[in-house]
Amino acid sequence: MSLIKVDSEKCGRDGICVEVCPLGLLSLDQEGRPQMLPAEAAFCIGCGHCVAVCSNGALDNSKNPISKHTAIPADYSPDPAQSALFLRSRRSIRHYEDKPVSREKILKLLDIARFAPSGHNSQAISYLVVEGPENLMRLSRIIVEWMRETVKLSPELAKRFNMPVVIREEEKSGARILRGAPHIIVAHAPADLAAAPVSTMLSLEYVELFAPALGLGTCWAGYAMACAQQFPAFSQFLKIPARRTITGILMAGYPRYRYHRLPARNPLDVAWFETG
Ligand SMILES: Cc1cc2nc3c(=O)[nH]c(=O)nc-3n(C[C@H](O)[C@H](O)[C@H](O)COP(=O)(O)O)c2cc1C
Ligand code: SF4
Repeated sequence: MSLIKVDSEKCGRDGICVEVCPLGLLSLDQEGRPQMLPAEAAFCIGCGHCVAVCSNGALDNSKNPISKHTAIPADYSPDPAQSALFLRSRRSIRHYEDKPVSREKILKLLDIARFAPSGHNSQAISYLVVEGPENLMRLSRIIVEWMRETVKLSPELAKRFNMPVVIREEEKSGARILRGAPHIIVAHAPADLAAAPVSTMLSLEYVELFAPALGLGTCWAGYAMACAQQFPAFSQFLKIPARRTITGILMAGYPRYRYHRLPARNPLDVAWFETG
């Protein structure tokens, strides 16, 4: 059975669906309607482009059915200034209110991650939300243990990443590494999926960008991530399933402070590569 269904009455025979398929799986039949030859079906990544691009809603694809699509309002046109403000007002939040975020709200926050691009539309990232001060403290201790080991085994590297100072500060405040966040979001993916690290970065960045709309803030947890990659105790404590690997970690919670300005950045560095 074909993956696609075409409503002949609605089909405008414009061939746009054929053009946008990233894998070139569609062709036009003799009447100018799209078709997918049976041999092509196995290669469909279910990206939904063929369905989403049809202005007549004439095409359905069982791997990404039209019934699950959301219509984009015809007058939707992103405003450049608003869009830039939205992106530029994202901040790494390092001070959190001392209150947990409800599971309901965290689910709302994480749901946006599903819509980020993923290599070959693999959508293979899973999320583990760590809650409870005791668990976060245990993880901080594991990170400190890893840092101590790094200081011993690779003192130069440890110094470059400021580890001796971070260890001292963590011992004093208990909130240097994970910043006192009430949650961390741990993304994990199949260990053999080449696109997983980049796909994770994108999905967690969607989460970071969406967080302020829910009154939340996040920050990438670089020390925790490096520890997760180098020190098995981290994944063991979180019981990350075999053959999966941690690919990204975000801290999350209610921001304690509000920002009032957009910080400056380096000027754009761009060059044009011309022929001749
Ligand atoms: C790490 C990564 C690598 C990708 N590589 C390619 C690529 O080589 N060619 C391509 O056409 N699309 C590539 N994509 C785009 C994905 O196929 C696309 O995100 C996915 O099919 C979902 O479609 P959407 O981005 O329109 O939502 C890549 C995406 C990611 C995140
Ligand atoms: S869902 Fe994507 S890959 Fe599959 S036929 Fe449509 S456009 Fe091509």
